[in-house]
Amino acid sequence: MEIINSVKELKAKVSALRSLNKTVGLVPTMGALHAGHASLVSRSVQENDATVVSVFVNPTQFNDKNDLQAYPRTLDADCELLSSIGATYVFAPSVEEVYPEPDTRSFSYPPTDQVMEGAFRPGHFNGVCQIVSKLFMFVEPDRAYFGEKDFQQIAVIKAMVADYKCQGAEWAKRLTICPCPIIREDDGLARSSRNTLLSASERAIAPGIYQALQSSVEYSKTHSVQETHDKAVSEINAIEGLEVQYYDIVNALTLESVTAWEDAPHIQGCITVFCGSTPIRLIDNIKYK
Ligand code: PAF
Repeated sequence: MEIINSVKELKAKVSALRSLNKTVGLVPTMGALHAGHASLVSRSVQENDATVVSVFVNPTQFNDKNDLQAYPRTLDADCELLSSIGATYVFAPSVEEVYPEPDTRSFSYPPTDQVMEGAFRPGHFNGVCQIVSKLFMFVEPDRAYFGEKDFQQIAVIKAMVADYKCQGAEWAKRLTICPCPIIREDDGLARSSRNTLLSASERAIAPGIYQALQSSVEYSKTHSVQETHDKAVSEINAIEGLEVQYYDIVNALTLESVTAWEDAPHIQGCITVFCGSTPIRLIDNIKYK
């Protein structure tokens, strides 16, 4: 496995692979890797001749400076893990390398990028689209892998790729976005780089989020969308130290809220919860149908 810091070198390595007709998988990450990322990388290694993993804490997607500063950075440990799983290249650039000048492009894919995280973190998805589109243009991968914990992020990225495709971008025509299932701890907490920021007492209450979501699925079979929503929210808020920021039950394709279970063929519940006094923002989601 090789570590690459420059865009020029990354492009040269990838074009050498292309000239040999090799397929390339891309796994974009912000580092602080855990079993969730490992599952994406393993899948890419299985499905492609070569796998590029980017490790870059993208400043343009953070709307809170403290959050950006606190984001865990563990490049050495990340590289050890990636090498053991079989990644081919790690792309770990500086901010100046990725953004030699400010990125003034703006992306908008309503309603997917406006609701939920889009409403509570203004500019977040614009930043995600800036970095992910750059990575796609640098690597021109055959497949790109994203975890379903960030359910909304996948919908926004798919909308962005569809838009580039319409505009005739060759890289977008070739690319397949591959969503991968959430990896959970034994107690149900979704794996996240932010989990390392939880204190022991916060870590102990955090699994209450998934427990409430899971029990709401059974409950939904005999109750309305609103009742199901309210039960999940009140169960989580009843745990001292947890506070729901939003819980939206949505059409899994458009991310528009539903009011009845018949409103859409696929329905997902997407939640964000503040945990502890810092607080740490945890996100999760669950499939109703
Ligand atoms: O999901 C993440 O870790 C980030 O949003 C991503 C896709 C790597 C872009 O910075």
